[in-house]
Amino acid sequence: MSPAAFSDGAELVDMLLAGWEIEKRFEGVSYGESERYASTARVKKIMPYLVGQSTEHENLVKSMIQKVKTDRQKWDFPQRVSKFPFHLSWDEEMMKEILRVERKAMETYSEILARLQVSDTKTFLDLADREFLVKGLKKLVKDEEEHARLAQSAIAKPGA
Ligand SMILES: [Fe+2]
Repeated sequence: MSPAAFSDGAELVDMLLAGWEIEKRFEGVSYGESERYASTARVKKIMPYLVGQSTEHENLVKSMIQKVKTDRQKWDFPQRVSKFPFHLSWDEEMMKEILRVERKAMETYSEILARLQVSDTKTFLDLADREFLVKGLKKLVKDEEEHARLAQSAIAKPGA
């Protein structure tokens, strides 16, 4: 199925907000928490990296949203997610949840990119801003692929 073009800026912002919401899921995780809950050195190392990346991504998505022109005044900005499923007691289970979230992020950014590339954006994006979004989304897709790969490797070899 070919991707559907965005008909206006609000539609694009809605999808970017969906990406932001996914990044938010990592926000409640502190370095200390991952230290406490992770039982292997590998997972202890991966978690703070992924959390740091999601903060960086959140800022990138926010700056993308600011570039989109739209008449809509009210937005449902994602709220901080207070509960990350750290009741999951062992690393493999935790990494499986992380993998699920990373894949979801990758799919979301890929979809936004594909739709953007078939959209006529002149009414809601300046040309330079469109390029900023395309470049940023390509980076996000690449990063999420890497995160999913890291989570996958931790599941395969939790102690390595
Ligand atoms: Fe990620």
